[in-house]
Amino acid sequence: MKNEECICTLLSCKKVNEKDQDNHFKLQPLPYAENALEPYMSEKTVQFHYGRHLPAYIENTNKLKAGTEYDHLSLVEIIRNSSGTLFNNAAQVFNHYFQFEALAPHQEEKSQPGQHTLKMIEENFGNLDEFKDKLTKSSMQFFGSGYTWLSVNPEGKMELTTAANAGTPITEGKLPVMNLDLWEHAYYLDVQNQRAKYIENFMKIINWEVIEERVKYILKEK
Ligand SMILES: [Fe+2]
Repeated sequence: MKNEECICTLLSCKKVNEKDQDNHFKLQPLPYAENALEPYMSEKTVQFHYGRHLPAYIENTNKLKAGTEYDHLSLVEIIRNSSGTLFNNAAQVFNHYFQFEALAPHQEEKSQPGQHTLKMIEENFGNLDEFKDKLTKSSMQFFGSGYTWLSVNPEGKMELTTAANAGTPITEGKLPVMNLDLWEHAYYLDVQNQRAKYIENFMKIINWEVIEERVKYILKEK
């Protein structure tokens, strides 16, 4: 795997792109215990979301790419070049690794963004509270299954967008910073249909250190 094949805002890019002898992507271990996000995200949700949904997307991607021109590509290359069911599954693999990598057990002293992240948030959203408000509002207003994305566009501006289904800012030439899974499978076991409560809980377990590393990578790229 060459570096330029990675969107290195996924810090575990190299790892998740490793393939076995059958040229299959494999499920990589969660970077923390399944119960580590409690009480904000239950062990059961992590077990189903990371342990059942993600492997199904990986398995589908492996089946759909086998014997095609996409077979030896990285996830991001598949996302950029494919469409239909293969795109949907490959993007879902990336999207889930991307979200779970950026979660961590809640710790009060680590619940704030790093300096580079905060500077970009302040430049583009005013302040952290306004950013959180906008993230909450756009996630609440979004109808159906999809994601809220924080990304940096080609002009270097940080922006919040929503995307349906497996949609990702990667296909628009943007570098993703953070995502919030808005599929009901992400929260139904814990809070049923209360998306607002899920978003509130999500804010408590954002791994701002990972977000800061992603932002620093993007700033170096500029
Ligand atoms: Fe999901």
